[in-house]
Amino acid sequence: MERSTTAFSFSLLASLALGFVLVVRAQQNPGFISIDCGATNAYIEEENNIAYETDEGFIDSGNNMQVSTEVIYENNLQSSKNVRSFPNGKRNCYTLRPDQGKNKTYLIRAIFWYANYDGKNQTPQFDLYIDVNYWATVSYSTYCYKEIMYVPQAYDIQVCLVNTGNGVPFISALELRTFDDDIYRLRSGFLQTQERYDIGLSSKSFIRYPIDVYDRIWAAQNYDWSTVNTTAAIDLSDGNDAYKYKIPGEILRTAQTSMNASIPLYLQWTPSISLSTKKWIVYFYFVEIERLTSGLQREFTISINDHRFTKTVSLEYLKPVAVVSSPVGGSFITFSIESTNKSGNPPILNAVEFYTVGDLPNVPTAQDDVKAINGIKATYLIKRESWQGDPCVPSNYTWDGLNCSYGNPPRIISLKLSSSNLTGDIVSSLSHLSRLEYLNLSGNNLTGSVPEALKKRVMEKTLNMSLTGTAIPCLADPCPQKKKKHDILIPVVASVSGFLVILFGALAVVWLSKRKQIAESNKRTLRLKNRPFKYGEVSRVTGNFGRVIGEGGFGKVYHGTLDNGTVVAVKMLSESSKQGYKEFQAEAQLLMIVHHGNLVSLLGYCDDSKHMALIYEYMANGNLRQHLSDATNRGPAKGLDMEQETTNSCGCSTRFGLFA
Ligand SMILES: *[C@@H]1O[C@H](CO)[C@@H](O)[C@H](O)[C@H]1NC(C)=O
Ligand SMILES: *[C@@H]1O[C@H](CO)[C@@H](O)[C@H](O)[C@H]1NC(C)=O
Ligand SMILES: *[C@@H]1O[C@H](CO)[C@@H](O)[C@H](O)[C@H]1NC(C)=O
Ligand SMILES: *[C@@H]1O[C@H](CO)[C@@H](O)[C@H](O)[C@H]1NC(C)=O
Ligand SMILES: *[C@@H]1O[C@H](CO)[C@@H](O)[C@H](O)[C@H]1NC(C)=O
Ligand SMILES: *[C@@H]1O[C@H](CO)[C@@H](O)[C@H](O)[C@H]1NC(C)=O
Ligand SMILES: *[C@@H]1O[C@H](CO)[C@@H](O)[C@H](O)[C@H]1NC(C)=O
Ligand SMILES: *[C@@H]1O[C@H](CO)[C@@H](O)[C@H](O)[C@H]1NC(C)=O
Ligand SMILES: *[C@@H]1O[C@H](CO)[C@@H](O)[C@H](O)[C@H]1NC(C)=O
Ligand SMILES: *[C@@H]1O[C@H](CO)[C@@H](O)[C@H](O)[C@H]1NC(C)=O
Repeated sequence: MERSTTAFSFSLLASLALGFVLVVRAQQNPGFISIDCGATNAYIEEENNIAYETDEGFIDSGNNMQVSTEVIYENNLQSSKNVRSFPNGKRNCYTLRPDQGKNKTYLIRAIFWYANYDGKNQTPQFDLYIDVNYWATVSYSTYCYKEIMYVPQAYDIQVCLVNTGNGVPFISALELRTFDDDIYRLRSGFLQTQERYDIGLSSKSFIRYPIDVYDRIWAAQNYDWSTVNTTAAIDLSDGNDAYKYKIPGEILRTAQTSMNASIPLYLQWTPSISLSTKKWIVYFYFVEIERLTSGLQREFTISINDHRFTKTVSLEYLKPVAVVSSPVGGSFITFSIESTNKSGNPPILNAVEFYTVGDLPNVPTAQDDVKAINGIKATYLIKRESWQGDPCVPSNYTWDGLNCSYGNPPRIISLKLSSSNLTGDIVSSLSHLSRLEYLNLSGNNLTGSVPEALKKRVMEKTLNMSLTGTAIPCLADPCPQKKKKHDILIPVVASVSGFLVILFGALAVVWLSKRKQIAESNKRTLRLKNRPFKYGEVSRVTGNFGRVIGEGGFGKVYHGTLDNGTVVAVKMLSESSKQGYKEFQAEAQLLMIVHHGNLVSLLGYCDDSKHMALIYEYMANGNLRQHLSDATNRGPAKGLDMEQETTNSCGCSTRFGLFA
């Protein structure tokens, strides 16, 4: 007692502490998801005050690994000291589900630091996907990250690492940040960060959270220009143009200008081969941070490859202006910021972001199908390497066991889950796969009945469904309706009670002695008997149906003896009785539903379409015999707790009951 109290207080304390951490995290970093991939516990990174969590709940696959101790001191970020690596599977995906939902802009950053974590001293190369589309190829030996501005069209965002045969994919950390405003959004595609500069910063090498509330990482950049800075407060009130970007004042307080008004600021570069086909978009941030004595405003125009694309930009003291370029491509790219003739002041630049445009050519699977298949995966605890990310797209990573049609959007049209260790009922999610044409559930431990919606589609012949070897006997000849089951159940329950009163007295003496004996041997005998009943065997144990002990509505009841000596009563369905078949099924189903702790019974259920039998443990005389004979009229008085079920190819299934 004392121990359990202690244990309880401990776990209470632990959960309070955990709750506290979670609350702190939520308050500290709203709109953030920060995952230290491969970490064993959550913590707050001292460097930047960001709360990191482990990857639990974001991914099911992969191994936690620590970077080599030889290089661990090169990088003092806790989040890069371990990685999650993916030696198995072609595609492994993290699922992020931000609170703010779909159709919002998110910054997503995947961080990689190989640091010889596997001792092979060989940097792997692999692909990164955002949802169903290619994002980047990763192949770095040094600390690096890939970052995008992404507007998801679904509640779940998948970040996938794809093995392209050039080494084992790994990841160090994964970060998501939510933008409050509708910024960094394209009509189509997404932005991939190439550079983000705080121009003129010299006191540190970069700025990120908490100075930047969106945790953009701004690197210090000093071109060969004049540097200026101020300590005055930048006007960040919501009236001005740059307010929605929430560029921190600290970043805007430093800047560079050209030497004099007649010299433009040039930004020019030759894109690397991998980016040579990309379009570029540049975000410029300007603020006047000098008190100009001339009385003239700083004023300039911006050109791309000698082609002017803006109206004149005029700056007012301490009021920021954001300018977004139009997309530009080519093998050599030039931006020039040039003072107008009336300005008399050199052009200025305070901060700049360079992005390329990523395309989203692949359309994801229809959301209803995705939801349904994920429901099926969760209910049946399906663990398959390929069951990650989108089920159909890209088509060469389609989930194992399903096929899709590739219209717009793609749909799941066939699903094979045969012999997949599924247990329990047929989940309704299956009927939500509305374009399914083929469904194979054979060879699973499934019980219950087929959902009406699926049954209807089978009847209409729009769905080809296989249930061979499951305990669901319903499709060939439709199961009794659910309603009917209740109709039978009520009188049955009533008659069970009545029957019990009479039977109990009669059997009490026999029982008390026998019960103990059976209870003791129960577990063992169940194991021994745990095998399917074939028709031939039923015939043998009943001595070729030699001894009739009763006759009921749909057939005779025979006496039999199993190989281990257990005496049984075998209730056969007469082959002619169509009505009997339904009742027989009803009884079989009722026996699965009705539970009663005091009655001992053992049931074999054989349904191979020609021969059907119920096999009971025969443990009493007259009354029980009478009951067995009468079962169709009065309902069975059997209480069963299902323990074991086995199936065989002839379609027989055997169920065994335990008693309390
Ligand atoms: C997504 O958000 C944008 C901007 O807020 C809005 O204009 C658009 O209608 C939204 N689209 C959908 C499908 O909700
Ligand atoms: C501002 O300029 C001064 C003098 O040039 C320099 O010492 C200081 O580090 C600069 N501040 C920043 C934030 O770069
Ligand atoms: C601007 O600077 C350039 C190069 O230093 C110089 O040749 C030119 O005379 C200067 N113009 C003015 C107006 O100061
Ligand atoms: C400045 O004036 C010159 C000569 O009139 C003209 O060629 C040039 O385009 C003007 N520059 C700007 C930025 O307006
Ligand atoms: C899958 O398809 C994409 C695009 O068609 C291709 O680049 C990639 O190499 C393929 N991957 C595999 C494993 O076949
Ligand atoms: C999917 O299609 C392939 C090729 O046609 C076939 O071999 C496979 O059995 C199909 N799988 C399912 C689940 O229908
Ligand atoms: C089913 O379960 C058995 C035993 O746990 C296991 O050996 C087998 O691999 C599983 N099969 C599938 C398809 O999951
Ligand atoms: C269902 O799958 C099993 C096992 O793979 C196979 O033997 C059977 O033929 C399939 N049924 C149908 C109707 O395709
Ligand atoms: C169901 O699918 C199996 C396997 O693809 C096929 O052999 C059988 O003919 C199909 N049945 C119907 C009714 O379409
Ligand atoms: C079938 O499932 C039931 C419960 O759903 C379980 O008790 C039984 O052990 C399972 N039988 C087999 C053979 O896995």
